[in-house]
Amino acid sequence: MQITFRQLKVFLKVAECLSYTKAADKLFMSQPAVSKQVKQLEEMVGHRLFEKVGRRIFLTDAGYELQKYADSIINLVAEAKEHLAHMGGGEKGCLKVAAATTASSFAIDMLGQFRRSYPEVEFEFKVTNRETLIKKLEDNLVDLVIMGAPPENSLFNAEPFMPNPLVFIAPTDHPLIGKKVSLNALSKETIIAREEGSGTRQALEKFFQDGNKEIEVGTIFNSNDSIKRAVMSGFGLALVSIHTIQVELENSSLAVLDVKGAPIQKNWHLVHHKDKELSAVAEIFRNFILEKTA
Ligand code: PGA
Repeated sequence: MQITFRQLKVFLKVAECLSYTKAADKLFMSQPAVSKQVKQLEEMVGHRLFEKVGRRIFLTDAGYELQKYADSIINLVAEAKEHLAHMGGGEKGCLKVAAATTASSFAIDMLGQFRRSYPEVEFEFKVTNRETLIKKLEDNLVDLVIMGAPPENSLFNAEPFMPNPLVFIAPTDHPLIGKKVSLNALSKETIIAREEGSGTRQALEKFFQDGNKEIEVGTIFNSNDSIKRAVMSGFGLALVSIHTIQVELENSSLAVLDVKGAPIQKNWHLVHHKDKELSAVAEIFRNFILEKTA
């Protein structure tokens, strides 16, 4: 037999009233039923919990000790219930989101806006490339992922929420600026690229494959900041999401080339595993993003 929640509640009521009869009244139980619960609890803990002195009953030392624990247990359960009730509404809880390296700039802004509306929600936020994001979804390590090219299989639910145009960038003094650039002309240039596993890298390879052209891939970088800096420094041309070059376009430190077939029109997606039941807070976040960008 184990100590039950009910026994603890009955014990606390008797300890409060210091009377079996009064406790029974308050609990809408018979007095023998109350005595039975206390007796069972005494057997379980191996101590007398009350002693009778004259016509009154008092807590024993063991009774005082148990009263402290029983109070904490009852309060903790009440607290847990309240916490879970809030979680059900999505105002509390932990949200695990991961975003593609390329999406991190706007994804952090979106999370920031969400935090202002739901200050009690905790976040785990990871930024990594497409391949690692897919692994995280498969291993159930995240609620939602923000990525460009979702995997083409039926394991995932992917909802597009915002356009993601990919453009070829060049240093501002490049001879191809202002010209119509064919894929043939592009294939003669050195292209610097993101690492294998990146969605942008995949889009670059597909663009050349679709046009039956070879790419001359130069240096590989695993961040968009490095790619931009390398293009400015003359390492070569690159394909990037327009979301990563807003500042550089404003201050004219990079140029976008007019390449045939570009911008490559992609979308950002919110992705989750189809088998995963989204928590209330994840569901609220999902709706927040879809409504904000609608
Ligand atoms: P990445 O992201 O190139 O940073 O992996 C883009 C994408 O998910 O398509």
